[in-house]
Amino acid sequence: MSLGKVLPLNTGVTIPQIGLGTWLSKPNEVENAVEIAVRNGYRHLDLAMIYQNQDEVGRALKKVIPSVVKREELFITSKLWNSSHQAAAAEAELNETLKQLGLDYLDLYLIHWPVAFQPGQGFVPPHPTAKNEAYLDTDTSLADTWKTMIKLKESGKVKAIGVSNFTIAHIEGIIQATGVVPAANQIEAHPLLPQDDLLEYSNKKGIHITAYSPLGNNTVGIPMLTENSTVQEVAKKLDATPAQVLIAWGAYRGYSVIPKSVQESRIISNFKQVELSKEDYEKVSSIIGAKAKRYNTPFTFNPKWNINLFDEDVEKAAANQVKIV
Ligand SMILES: NC(=O)c1ccc[n+]([C@@H]2O[C@H](COP(=O)([O-])OP(=O)(O)OC[C@H]3O[C@@H](n4cnc5c(N)ncnc54)[C@H](OP(=O)(O)O)[C@@H]3O)[C@@H](O)[C@H]2O)c1
Repeated sequence: MSLGKVLPLNTGVTIPQIGLGTWLSKPNEVENAVEIAVRNGYRHLDLAMIYQNQDEVGRALKKVIPSVVKREELFITSKLWNSSHQAAAAEAELNETLKQLGLDYLDLYLIHWPVAFQPGQGFVPPHPTAKNEAYLDTDTSLADTWKTMIKLKESGKVKAIGVSNFTIAHIEGIIQATGVVPAANQIEAHPLLPQDDLLEYSNKKGIHITAYSPLGNNTVGIPMLTENSTVQEVAKKLDATPAQVLIAWGAYRGYSVIPKSVQESRIISNFKQVELSKEDYEKVSSIIGAKAKRYNTPFTFNPKWNINLFDEDVEKAAANQVKIV
């Protein structure tokens, strides 16, 4: 069983440290995965409209609420997709998310990415002239969308609001425009991308960090971090799995971690928290080598999002910058 740790949010409630990720969980997999997870103690589920599987998650929730857990014992996060950043579209998407899940509120609702797409033309609208490019909405700013999120929170349909994939500059911009500090920022974080500056900033501001892709999942054909020999060495020493070591690495840094699995034995073992000593933590941290590695850079997606989000070298050629206010 997990250590069952929970962490505080700046709204006064807590978020369970280990949650279940659901991205790329194929049809007919995620319903089972969510049911197994909740039956085995998970209370934090990470969802999103773009994963296109929330209706299945909703079916699983019907199986476990209230027979296994009460609704209020679960912490359910979902995310507003890029094509719904505009006020009317955002409200409609939240309503659709709640309908798919069969819920009347979310615990946390995040702006999935700091980039808006044109609304009403599908999840990734094609650019009218540029081949293989998403059609960005360069008018709607992050501050506009954050104001919409604040209204959604006031409606009571979401208990807390936050962001995802935001940099310090993006967050500073929305706070200055509204005075409202996000409850959380969900970011890619693993030993190859520790994001120490963002973590330090978030701790100072009281913004909770949730780490995605903690196992180094990628769609670019590089081995998972569970294959790394140093991670495996530490796992062997602790009689743990490499995934448990990577999850513990994130937990050591004081934030929540949301590994995805659709396999029963992995769902169960990923939730069994092990703890790293300072020495083991530092050993795992050392695998970064000379340069950090970010897997999730939308400028390299197909279709491409032609925008510089993180100022990575590869993004310098992007035609657009984030419109913060
Ligand atoms: N906010 C964002 O933009 C964003 C972006 C990416 C992800 N996320 C969220 O974060 C979650 C986690 O990130 P992720 O899915 O990218 O990556 P991840 O959780 O780091 O890795 C998932 C991969 O690891 C495998 N795996 C799971 N447990 C394992 C174990 N014990 N040993 C070996 N392999 C294992 C899974 O396969 P099996 O399923 O076959 O076990 C899957 O291929 C997502 O599901 C999503 O909820 C958010």
